[in-house]
Amino acid sequence: MNSVTVRVPAKVNLQLAVGPLRDDGYHDLVNVFHAVSIFDEVTAVAETGMSVRVEGESADQVPEDGDNLAIQAAVALARHAGRSYGVSLAIRKAIPVAGGMAGGSADAAAALVACNELWGLGLPLEDLMEIASDLGSDVPFALLGGTAVGTGRGERLAPLEVGGTFHWVFALADGGLSTAKVYGECDRIRQEGGEPVGHPRAAEPLLAALRVGDARALGAELTNDLQPAALSLRGSLARTLQAGRAHGALGAIVSGSGPTCAFLAESEAHAETLAAALKTENVARDVLTAHGPVPGPTVVQGPPGR
Ligand code: C5P
Repeated sequence: MNSVTVRVPAKVNLQLAVGPLRDDGYHDLVNVFHAVSIFDEVTAVAETGMSVRVEGESADQVPEDGDNLAIQAAVALARHAGRSYGVSLAIRKAIPVAGGMAGGSADAAAALVACNELWGLGLPLEDLMEIASDLGSDVPFALLGGTAVGTGRGERLAPLEVGGTFHWVFALADGGLSTAKVYGECDRIRQEGGEPVGHPRAAEPLLAALRVGDARALGAELTNDLQPAALSLRGSLARTLQAGRAHGALGAIVSGSGPTCAFLAESEAHAETLAAALKTENVARDVLTAHGPVPGPTVVQGPPGR
């Protein structure tokens, strides 16, 4: 049986600066993406027709029809190749669903890589990137991995050099948050405040902290313009963030559009004690530790004979 399995990481946003609402319904961003070691696995098996099944973390909340972003990725790739390929996708989830860690985007990126291999297309990364940006704003980064700054709606990427490994704790919440709703709430809060919204800019001190691998400096520079909106929609996250700070997190932010909260630790050992403390405090459905940056999608098992 011809099959390809691809492992793909989650992301956290180290800076998410949101500009004004554009005419196309999107916002211009400065989005510093950072891939972390929480992985989904996507297995593609040659089949007639397109299908997907999902197992693992909150799998019951992921659609198994044409709404599934990984299936949409496979369909878009076949269309790009101008052929009527089929595939059966099996997704094993560990990345929280609708959690602000780009799990759906990761699965779409993994499906692109897996089907490119399975169907022997040999398309270069640039072609996959182009298909990816039509699928969603976070899918191009999910193809790249590592750490990168995204501009435009997040799809124009410049990789960043990072001088070390950072240790993270993630507090998973019950249920997800809709990205579109969180952006909408961000606009509503801003309108209410009446402050003009400036053009987003990359934070130099954050980029410097990344370059030299300084966790303490990075922790102080973590920012997320969507955080007030996520907190407005999910008030309980304030307690989660506060618990992490109280237990010595170097930085505590909502990840992307939430509701997952991200805490930067001083070391791997500190991440473990911080995670244990958050579990004891009962401020999350589950608590995970991870490190970053990690590479993007990786083929862990390919078709026989290749
Ligand atoms: O691109 P994606 O489909 O992931 O975006 C989901 C939703 O998030 C969009 O429909 C839009 O409401 C919001 N969004 C935005 N500005 C961005 C990215 C996403 O307003 N740069």
